[in-house]
Amino acid sequence: MLGIVIGKQIVATDTLPATMGGYQECHIDLGCGDGKYIGKIAEAHPHVFCLGIDAVAANVAETSRKRRKQANLAYARAGAESLPESLHGTADRVSVILPWGSLMLAVGGGGGGNSATLGLIARLLKLHGTLEVVLNLSVYQNDPLYASKQGLDDLPDPTDKSALQAAYARVGLTVIDHRKDVPLPQTRWGRQLHRQRRQAVGIVAKIAIANESQGEETPRTSDSGDKAGAKATSSLTSMA
Ligand SMILES: C[S@@+](CC[C@H](N)C(=O)[O-])C[C@H]1O[C@@H](n2cnc3c(N)ncnc32)[C@H](O)[C@@H]1O
Repeated sequence: MLGIVIGKQIVATDTLPATMGGYQECHIDLGCGDGKYIGKIAEAHPHVFCLGIDAVAANVAETSRKRRKQANLAYARAGAESLPESLHGTADRVSVILPWGSLMLAVGGGGGGNSATLGLIARLLKLHGTLEVVLNLSVYQNDPLYASKQGLDDLPDPTDKSALQAAYARVGLTVIDHRKDVPLPQTRWGRQLHRQRRQAVGIVAKIAIANESQGEETPRTSDSGDKAGAKATSSLTSMA
């Protein structure tokens, strides 16, 4: 069961996936921090159900209280390592913006590129769904001590596309865009890193195989890859 955060309260619910299913689209922001970024997306796109998930309920407490009347928005407390099965196959888009710790390790292809957590994140996606990741490159390049404290010794160089591709492919994700120096998204951390002139790597990946509940396998043709690439380019830019 999912723990929905409303201010300081956490309410267990199993009806959220059904609510999400009533919307044309669903966007999950995983590791959403203060939750303001996904809150603004919900406000701008009433046809999109937006779910901010963070391991720390206190991070989203204030925004979830302020935005509690927004029908197409919810915040949940969950670790990426234990995302509930009820969320499998619910998202058209999952964003993971400037994660740290175990979440960064998972989406950065750490753990020997064999991350069960990355598999769980991939399972959030609907067929043709998109995973968008923005990684703080300076953690890797300039701050080995901080990286070590965060348990990131094992993180491969995020600019090494082939290492990421291999890790993503293991969980059925195809990397269709991988770029150094993407604009930092307008999140709390994005703005902070922008002020510090930090660099970020952007990764966009598509689910290439159907999640179990969704029937057929997605065709892997070069044509479908090109089209997906074109769409994803704009979606990565739109995160800024
Ligand atoms: C550096 S902050 C970035 C927050 C936000 N995305 C932003 O850009 O402002 C990283 C966030 O990821 C969350 N986080 C870290 N590991 C996580 C995990 N395993 N599962 C869910 N959230 C996690 C933290 O609680 C924190 O809020």
